[in-house]
Amino acid sequence: MVIPMLRFLKLCSLLVLLACLPACQTQPTDDALYHELGGMEGITRITDNFIYEIGFDKNIVRHFEETDLDRFREKFIEQVCELSGGPCRYSGDSMVDVHTNMNITEAEFNQTVDLLIAAMNRSGIAHPTQNKLLALLAPTRPDIIYQ
Ligand code: HEM
Repeated sequence: MVIPMLRFLKLCSLLVLLACLPACQTQPTDDALYHELGGMEGITRITDNFIYEIGFDKNIVRHFEETDLDRFREKFIEQVCELSGGPCRYSGDSMVDVHTNMNITEAEFNQTVDLLIAAMNRSGIAHPTQNKLLALLAPTRPDIIYQ
């Protein structure tokens, strides 16, 4: 009697886990992070500082030689706005489609994250807030790094 009961409970936890998977991603359920980042004004400032930082990094900027920076700026702002719970919908291409064939290494990915951190520091974003945004961007890692 105890063993079938245990099996039943195990199955229940598995079902709960599976049902929860999409919702359990680190997506916020409110717009608190969006406001902590300073809303559209703050996210725009972070993005502009990010582009500025990229411009000074010889190894990273070479990937952007052919890029329409206005589009990159617009799509990055949208992405951060949506991820942080703001009133935007990301209308850009998927992270896989955009970054495939760029042969981005793990070191380049980490370096780009460091540039984003520098941009957030320059924008006066508190470290706990920075970490919340970085946690939301972390799942993009396998889509961006060259396998
Ligand atoms: C946290 C990691 C990253 C995020 C969230 C991110 C996000 C984005 C977004 C939203 C776009 C615009 C997509 C569109 O135009 O539809 C984009 C484009 C681009 N990303 Fe990333 N990216 C990341 C990491 C990187 C890294 C590590 C590199 C290179 C070292 C890189 C290089 C590029 C380039 C060159 C483009 C422009 C592509 C083009 O010219 O069409 N990204 N990225």
